[in-house]
Amino acid sequence: MLVARNGTPVRARLAGVEGYVPERVLTNAELERIVDTTDEWIVSRTGIRERHVAADDQATSDLAVEAARRLLERTGTDAADLDAVLVATTTPDHVFPPTAPLVAGRIGARSAAAVDLNAACSGFIYGLAQSTALVECGMARNVLLIGSEVLTRYVDWTDRTTCVLFGDGAGAALVSAAPPDAVDGFLGFDLGADGDLADQLTVPAGGTRAPAHTAAPEDLCIRMNGREVYKFATRIIEESARRLLERLEIGVDEIDLMVAHQANIRILEYATERLGIPEDRVFNNIDRVGNTSSASIPIALAEARDRGRLRPGDLVLMVGFGAGLTWGAAVARYEPPAAPTPDAAGPA
Ligand code: ACO
Repeated sequence: MLVARNGTPVRARLAGVEGYVPERVLTNAELERIVDTTDEWIVSRTGIRERHVAADDQATSDLAVEAARRLLERTGTDAADLDAVLVATTTPDHVFPPTAPLVAGRIGARSAAAVDLNAACSGFIYGLAQSTALVECGMARNVLLIGSEVLTRYVDWTDRTTCVLFGDGAGAALVSAAPPDAVDGFLGFDLGADGDLADQLTVPAGGTRAPAHTAAPEDLCIRMNGREVYKFATRIIEESARRLLERLEIGVDEIDLMVAHQANIRILEYATERLGIPEDRVFNNIDRVGNTSSASIPIALAEARDRGRLRPGDLVLMVGFGAGLTWGAAVARYEPPAAPTPDAAGPA
């Protein structure tokens, strides 16, 4: 049973983040040689300059394991202490087994429950909500959540309207039961979906509706109505973030850092301007990473931390949106475990 803080139920906190992108970089200049596009078009319409592509022998679990190992090392967490491993992905290694058990096995999380979840590019936010629920209802103390994607395996390299957008990567987060002196952990979530817009962004085949062995190759690739998704994204980032902040009675000026799903710099700039969050409190890395779906927010959070833009105690607003169409927003205080003080560490 978990110990309550001041008689209140235990809180879940964001105790760490880490990212991993594969070594191979695919630049806009290389794409110019593959499809009828230009660096100028891609940069001005999307903000993307390059993205990372998994090696032929790397699958989604391989990227997830890299991010997970880095996170465990950074947070000083023993994999044996993980109670659950959640992998948010739209590009699992297999139809089954799920990817999470493969990852849990390889990192040595022997006593962890392990399961995948798919909410497309909102997957990381949905995963944070589920991790928080597991911790706050007392079913887990430490949840490892990984967003991992090898989207380039689902890209039609002859379709210039989609192939310039996506990249591969993984990001991991540790969601842990907060110690009694923790500030406030996860404060709230806003999650939603509009299935009426499901057709706007799909991989049409490969599931039970149109099994892969009966499908035309192009139906196994990403198909998107870019303009409709663009309209949805600009609307929903603002709506979802506003709804959550109002419910929490948190002013926009109290947010130290906003990190949204990295899909298109124009979407992000428009939405953050509408929200009234100044540029210096928004972190974007889409120019170097592209759209990595459920991995994009944790990769960006880790990079923000590395660049000194995400500091312990910061109030962070995260917003995701994607296929479904789904969306999710979360507000959390970033609370990495304190480094041991010289006294606590003993004499040098
Ligand atoms: N290079 C050059 N020209 C291009 C390219 C390209 N790569 N792609 C499209 N064009 C052309 C089009 O063919 C069109 O030409 P036309 O006017 O002769 O017909 C012209 O550029 C304008 O096309 P639009 O679709 O209007 O371009 P837009 O400015 O809307 O940008 C984009 C397209 C980047 C796809 C944008 O709509 C977008 O970002 N949409 C949202 C995508 C997104 O956020 N997805 C997130 C979810 S992903 C997930 O969940 C897995």
